[in-house]
This record gives sequence, C-alpha cells and structure tokens, in this order.
Amino acid sequence: MTQYGEGSASYDAVGGLLGLQKLVKDFYDVMSSNPDYVVIRDMHPKDLTVSEDKLVCFLSGWLGGERLFAKKYGGIRIPQVHAHLMIHEKERDMWLNCMQEALEKQAYSDDFKLYLLTQLKVPAERIRIACERQL
Ligand code: HEM
Repeated sequence: MTQYGEGSASYDAVGGLLGLQKLVKDFYDVMSSNPDYVVIRDMHPKDLTVSEDKLVCFLSGWLGGERLFAKKYGGIRIPQVHAHLMIHEKERDMWLNCMQEALEKQAYSDDFKLYLLTQLKVPAERIRIACERQL
C-alpha cells in the first residue's frame, strides 16, 4: 500500500499543483453553494481568489510538494492565523465536511480520500483549540 505521508506521495496523489488547485476550488465552491456552510463562508472575504491561493500554497508544502506558502507569503502558524475567528466544533466540522464533499468530487482512490481527511482533522482540531483559548 502507498505510504501517503512519505516524501511527495500525498502531493502526487492529489495530482500535483493542478490537482490541488482543482481540489481547493471545489472545496470553496462547496462552501459557497451549500447553505449549511454559510457560517464559515461568511468568515471569508467575498472574493475568494486570495483565500484559494493561500490554501493551495499551504497544502502544497503540507502534502510534501513545493513549500509555496513560505515562498509567496512567508511564515505561517495555522492555529494562530485562525485564532481571531469563532471556530468551535460545529465550524471545525463544517470545514471538514466541505473538504469531504470536495474530495468526493475527485478521482482519488478511496483510501487516499480517507487518509487526507483524517490528516486534516489534526490541524482543524488545533485551530478549534486555539480559537477557544482566545475566548
Ligand atoms: C477548522 C475550520 C477552519 C475554518 C472555519 C477556517 C477558516 C478560515 C478563514 C475564514 C480564513 C481567512 C481567509 C481570508 O481572509 O482570506 C482562513 C485562512 C486560512 N486557512 Fe483556514 N479554516 C479552517 C481550517 C483550516 C485548515 C485545517 C487549514 C490547513 C490545513 C487551513 C488553512 C488556511 C490558510 C493557509 C489560510 C490563510 C492564512 C493567511 O491569511 O495567511 N484552514 N481560514
């Protein structure tokens, strides 16, 4: 079985930069079109161009590809950049559900989809903790 965490295996499995751009576009399309996610959609700017690019750049490095975020935007600490937002379990799960719906639109293997979603729960939970600490 592929060891997704190793080297660029996960980056390759998303289809490199083009695959990642499609995933993130689908992710924000899901967030914008399903009223269930309006609470987290409204946390974002109206124009999602920069939000999309930042998520693509971050995930590129996070998945073992080029560290585009550092190159383009500088350093980032994921929990801290969200700490001003009201992210509790409900909002965390909305984000993860958007990602799950976006993953379902991709031609990835089921085991990779499950792997990626499971991995994303880690930063999502750290974000919730950082946000709740600010209260
Ligand atoms: C837990 C639920 C989450 C919510 C509700 C959420 C929401 C947001 C919002 C509202 C922004 C600001 C967008 C903007 O102003 O352009 C943002 C930025 C960002 N988010 Fe999240 N996010 C979540 C989880 C995650 C996760 C799990 C990751 C990475 C794996 C992530 C990566 C990013 C990045 C890279 C940025 C850009 C930060 C910057 O401005 O430099 N987010 N997020």
